[in-house]
Amino acid sequence: MTAAARDRDLRWRYREIAADLGVAVREDEPLARHTTLGVGGPAAWFFEPETLDQAARLWAALVDGPLPVRLLGGGSNLVVADAGVRAAVIATERLAPAPERLEGHHVRVGAGQPVPGLVRWCVAEGLAGVEFAEGIPARVGGAIRMNAGANRGWFGGIARVVLVASPEGRIEEHLVTEGDFGYRTSFVARDGLFVLGAEFALAEDEPRAIRDRVRTFRARRRATQPLRERSAGCIFANFPDQSVGALVDRLGLKGRRVGGAEVSTLHGNFIVNRQQARAADVLALIDELRDALLHETGLEPRLEVEIWKDA
Ligand code: FAD
Ligand code: EPU
Repeated sequence: MTAAARDRDLRWRYREIAADLGVAVREDEPLARHTTLGVGGPAAWFFEPETLDQAARLWAALVDGPLPVRLLGGGSNLVVADAGVRAAVIATERLAPAPERLEGHHVRVGAGQPVPGLVRWCVAEGLAGVEFAEGIPARVGGAIRMNAGANRGWFGGIARVVLVASPEGRIEEHLVTEGDFGYRTSFVARDGLFVLGAEFALAEDEPRAIRDRVRTFRARRRATQPLRERSAGCIFANFPDQSVGALVDRLGLKGRRVGGAEVSTLHGNFIVNRQQARAADVLALIDELRDALLHETGLEPRLEVEIWKDA
């Protein structure tokens, strides 16, 4: 088969899957507009399911397909290559039914639920436990996959049930057990799962007390992180006993620039998109930081951000 015939075949197949499931699909969707860092090229295919059931069935239809499947949450931990990705991207943005209160201060949310909205909703409901996440611009599915954490809390600490898509396209309940989550990692990452939603165990508290804690965390974050600029959060996971930000600071690398990308002058583990950076600028700066950290500590730092590029 020629490349053109293969492309026609793929187009026919993906459009048919989308039509059968009633899912919106776009070709060559620019990913820069779906990430907080704002760099990178298009996704060849971009699917936007609206219900958890549709999303589970879409997963089953795509997972053995000719192109790799990539899952997109808030795009707040991603560096997408300038050439984009030849992949079928499933965007979870629309998988955000209103949070639902269950028995015993449990709450059920969809994968596409924005974390900042969840924090606000919990304050209003007098539910404590998710304040730690104030300022994390993720969606719930991505936050669970990464086990996003701050202020001594993380999502693995409140998740009791994670809804995942089975390979056959069903919604399955995974009961969280010990060992499912670690520092910036999870069983979801380990097993390559698609999170459709989650149930969090929270606790009752005075809305004012919860709001005060949220405000304290917000103020701390504003003072230490470049929230007015485009970034993907911390580039590297911390070393077991050392903050990468503090190390980069000590090495005098804050403010270091490549093209439009800059090591934040506020926090050494953030790279900010200062002036229409290209992904290539960001990746070159990441390499510089990695080399400097390796040289300083003798240890290879682990990337926390994920780089989306074709293999
Ligand atoms: P994305 O960036 O869209 O994706 C990240 C990974 O999750 C990818 O592998 C993606 O395929 C996968 N994924 C997305 N959705 C799903 C799904 N439904 N099912 C399975 N896999 C999925 N992180 C912290 O841990 N703590 C912080 O304090 C923190 N602060 C930040 C502050 C700023 C200003 C920014 C920009 C980022 C910060 N981050 C922080 C990083 C980022 O928010 C987290 O890594 C977050 O978990 C990413 O979630 P997301 O929904 O944006 O996922
Ligand atoms: N520090 C410096 N210079 C810097 C940055 C930090 O000296 O440029 C020092 C601080 O003064 C502090 C220490 O390093 O003494 C630790 O800094 P901070 O409290 O900011 O924490 P961090 O280890 O840099 C981690 C997470 C953040 C999370 C914060 C708050 C990682 C890689 N980072 O940062 O998460 O928001 O704690 O809990 O674990 C992320 O993962 O993307 C992220 C932003």
